[in-house]
Amino acid sequence: MSVTRLVEWGVLLGMRKVETVEQMPEEYRQILMKLIYALASTEFASVEQHHPWINRGPTAEDRYIQAQIAADEAHQGFIDCRLLRSFGPDGVALVDDLLRRRMGEHPLDAFNYPFESWVDTVTFCFTMDLVAWYHLHAMENCSYAPLAREMTSMVHEEKFHAAFGARRAGDLVQNPEYARLAGAGKEELQAAVNKWYPRALDTFGKSDSRFSDLAVGYGLRRWNNRELRQMYEQEIDEKIRGLGLEVPPEHLNRKIL
Ligand SMILES: [Fe+2]
Ligand SMILES: [Fe+2]
Repeated sequence: MSVTRLVEWGVLLGMRKVETVEQMPEEYRQILMKLIYALASTEFASVEQHHPWINRGPTAEDRYIQAQIAADEAHQGFIDCRLLRSFGPDGVALVDDLLRRRMGEHPLDAFNYPFESWVDTVTFCFTMDLVAWYHLHAMENCSYAPLAREMTSMVHEEKFHAAFGARRAGDLVQNPEYARLAGAGKEELQAAVNKWYPRALDTFGKSDSRFSDLAVGYGLRRWNNRELRQMYEQEIDEKIRGLGLEVPPEHLNRKIL
């Protein structure tokens, strides 16, 4: 999606997009910093999750794609850091905080778990990278032009990660040779889906979040938490059923509703 000059939705509709931190109302600035901080934290956390699986997948393509994904996440994290630093001392403090945190200390729960197996790695890409894609998709052409411009490349990277996960999930159930190489098939994939599905839904945040409504109002996100989770659920549920697997009950093992 290309970046237009004007704000496309919300209370600033029709105005020129925001280009600099100096132009921002204080509330807008606070919400945007929180959004970028949350986004950046997931990028650096996923580098930690993916890197042990670089060069360990069952095929050459699997091994190198994990390297590509880890590189994409690091690159996205550094872009977020550059944006945060442009906010001044409080943005710099957030970057310092981000770069200090390690596995177990990341603010979003789903990013604090190491991948236990190859099927776990594939299922993370299948479920969680699609979550990431929805979050970025919601910020495409947003009211802050520098962020909107970054989305033009980031959304495609996440689509690639999620598509890789979906393809390999399909191979685990439909391609006996791949399942043999991976040491996992339908049963293991179902177990991994059961594990990641509630975490994926939790990652959209609280349904009645004033913060997410304000982000929509300021044109920073196109949809609020509840709407975005519903869109995601519709797509992932269809994909899970398409693999001949069961969709876990919506509220099972959920921590954030
Ligand atoms: Fe990412
Ligand atoms: Fe990703």
